[in-house]
Amino acid sequence: MDLSHVIEAARAASLKAYAPYSNFRVGAAILTGSGAVHTGCNVENASYGLAICAERNAVARMIAANADDRRIRLVAVVSPDAAPCFPCGACRQVLHEFGCEEVVVLDASGEHERCPFSEILPHAFGPEDL
Ligand code: THU
Repeated sequence: MDLSHVIEAARAASLKAYAPYSNFRVGAAILTGSGAVHTGCNVENASYGLAICAERNAVARMIAANADDRRIRLVAVVSPDAAPCFPCGACRQVLHEFGCEEVVVLDASGEHERCPFSEILPHAFGPEDL
């Protein structure tokens, strides 16, 4: 699977965000162990605290899609409203649950930056710690 395809999937998802309160649109695309791509966008709510991030929506779609393909090789995160857009702390924890190895974001000039997951969530707590 081509990395540019995954980034493009995240960009397309970001344009579908439901973000009328923050006007901050985010798209995420997960590449799984088998090469499948699952996308998500943020979904906000009039009860502000119920907003769900793009990354966790992508994780939910991955889980619902195939119980035998739940290892996250990488996640691309794109926002047309900010660059770069790294996953929030809660999403980092949820992505770690499924072994996410790498995060890909776009800088202001549209170039992609690859970041090892251990750099954005060092000393992570996960399933292996229980
Ligand atoms: N948001 C995401 O979707 N992912 C992130 O990693 C950062 C924040 C969303 C949540 C909310 O809808 C909006 O961006 C502003 O916080």
